[in-house]
Amino acid sequence: MVECRPSGGFFEGEIRMVNKVTVVGAGNVGATTAQRLAEKELADVILVDIVEGLAEGKALDLEEAAPIEKHDAKIAGANTYDASAGSDIVILTAGIPRKPGMSRDDLLATNARIVQSVVAKIAPLSPNAILIIVSNPLDAMCHVALETSGFPKHRVMGMAGVLDSARFRAFIARELQVSVENTHAFVMGGHGDTMVPLPRYSTVAGIPITELISQERLNALIQRTRDGGAEIVGLLKTASAFYAPAAGAVEMAETILKDKKKILPCAAYLNGEYGINDLFIGVPVKLGRNGIEKIIQIRLLEDEQTALEKSANAVKELVNTLKTLGF
Ligand SMILES: NC(=O)c1ccc[n+]([C@@H]2O[C@H](COP(=O)([O-])OP(=O)(O)OC[C@H]3O[C@@H](n4cnc5c(N)ncnc54)[C@H](O)[C@@H]3O)[C@@H](O)[C@H]2O)c1
Repeated sequence: MVECRPSGGFFEGEIRMVNKVTVVGAGNVGATTAQRLAEKELADVILVDIVEGLAEGKALDLEEAAPIEKHDAKIAGANTYDASAGSDIVILTAGIPRKPGMSRDDLLATNARIVQSVVAKIAPLSPNAILIIVSNPLDAMCHVALETSGFPKHRVMGMAGVLDSARFRAFIARELQVSVENTHAFVMGGHGDTMVPLPRYSTVAGIPITELISQERLNALIQRTRDGGAEIVGLLKTASAFYAPAAGAVEMAETILKDKKKILPCAAYLNGEYGINDLFIGVPVKLGRNGIEKIIQIRLLEDEQTALEKSANAVKELVNTLKTLGF
């Protein structure tokens, strides 16, 4: 008989990390997130999926890679939520990607149901956890998670800006043939076609990219950033991006677990900041052990503010649709 991990996820006396992170959804983004968390020894990881055996299988596979990758993080797979109890962070990647013939509302309703059902189970077991939402449509799913969990708004956030700005940075580095480490880029707004990359605040070794890249090339890089997700779906055909999205979620988790106070673009619930009310949207925030410790307000030029408001309106429309659907 195969020895299963106990319901708590870990064996008695097993070497354990200080932190525990649950990743819900053991698909492409979830499994890669679990792998990166473990390989960086950031936490023990509980991987949960609704498909029987999927999370358990991937967790065991990752555990068997540990001696080669040289880490002692434990990864336990589960079909239920018991093992997630007492998590410091829950990263939510459960959901379906859009398929041909499906309307945006279809995706919205399906993923909202999934996010609602998952958060309803996970929140009471980890009442002090920080929720990082990855499931799409991102900003709207953050609303469902906030409502369902009843958590304070600084402990519910979405991962999108880190990914979008990483894409922008990768394209800037490639354009200028410089190290990605020299790049900083800022992308605000909702996670979608209306996202707002801010070249004025994007730099290479401290130099604004507007000094280094022509407006025409910059426009092309911005457009490629906006279409970044679609470009990868077009190539993969049956899946969407997952290496960079997982890296984005793990950067947020690392910043929180190590209380690094990094400023990262995250989907945060705004209460008047940037003139936006009661809405999750991507803005720069200071992340630490308490979650979102500060929303950083920068002065936007008129056209930037207009673009942000347009993006906020697109998110608002989705949230309103959610309300009509009873969420
Ligand atoms: N925010 C971002 O920047 C970003 C980037 C990439 C992907 N995404 C989104 O993340 C989500 C996951 O993407 P993926 O590529 O990993 O998809 P995937 O299909 O590979 O994995 C999703 C997993 O969720 C599981 N799942 C579905 N319902 C569940 C439930 N009720 N409980 C537990 N698990 C459940 C599925 O069984 C599947 O294994 C999608 O909604 C996708 O659009 C967001």
